[in-house]
Amino acid sequence: VSPRGQVAVRPARPEDWLGVQALLRELDELHAELVPAYFRPATRTEPDWRRLLGDSTALALVAVDEGEGSRAPVGFLSLRVYDTPADPTMVPRRRGHLETLIVDARRRRSGIGGRLLAAAADWARARGAAEMVLTTWVGNAEADAFYERLGYRVLSHVLHAKL
Ligand SMILES: CC(C)(COP(=O)(O)OP(=O)(O)OC[C@H]1O[C@@H](n2cnc3c(N)ncnc32)[C@H](O)[C@@H]1OP(=O)(O)O)[C@@H](O)C(=O)NCCC(=O)NCCS
Repeated sequence: VSPRGQVAVRPARPEDWLGVQALLRELDELHAELVPAYFRPATRTEPDWRRLLGDSTALALVAVDEGEGSRAPVGFLSLRVYDTPADPTMVPRRRGHLETLIVDARRRRSGIGGRLLAAAADWARARGAAEMVLTTWVGNAEADAFYERLGYRVLSHVLHAKL
């Protein structure tokens, strides 16, 4: 076990890919376990990573332990900003959609997830977003407890039934 240092949150760079890929694998496996009818573990590819980093409507952040020689990311977040579609029944608003948040399982409960989310909220706010939205999947008690603690409340319930 390497010594733990200061954790920094910064925009992701192309060379963070291998570390982020490992974190995404952890997240994909969790989702496949929780909702196998929807998710399966897959190999994420570098072209998608490059596209994300080049997308001006998206934010990709990593948390990096500066005391760790490898500087492999210990947390990753991605977010996109969306405007409400032109629909007369909808209140026009810009929102930050949190797409991915994952902290290395060995590094949880030390404030990393909260710091990533706070930095993402600042970024979205600076781009005119009035609110953040995100999806958690049933059974993800860790995520539910985390978001509830940070003030997030349930907005809708998605129902499903077998045909
Ligand atoms: C959800 C997740 C990102 C939280 O990251 P984290 O770095 O552990 O979160 P923090 O340390 O910033 O937690 C902040 C607060 O949230 C609450 N919290 C976080 N995890 C919790 C848990 N497992 N049980 C209860 N409360 C929890 C606590 O109040 C915590 O503060 P405390 O540790 O001082 O009590 C992390 O658990 C994770 O990566 N989970 C797997 C992937 C996932 O589910 N991602 C979200 C779905 S999109």
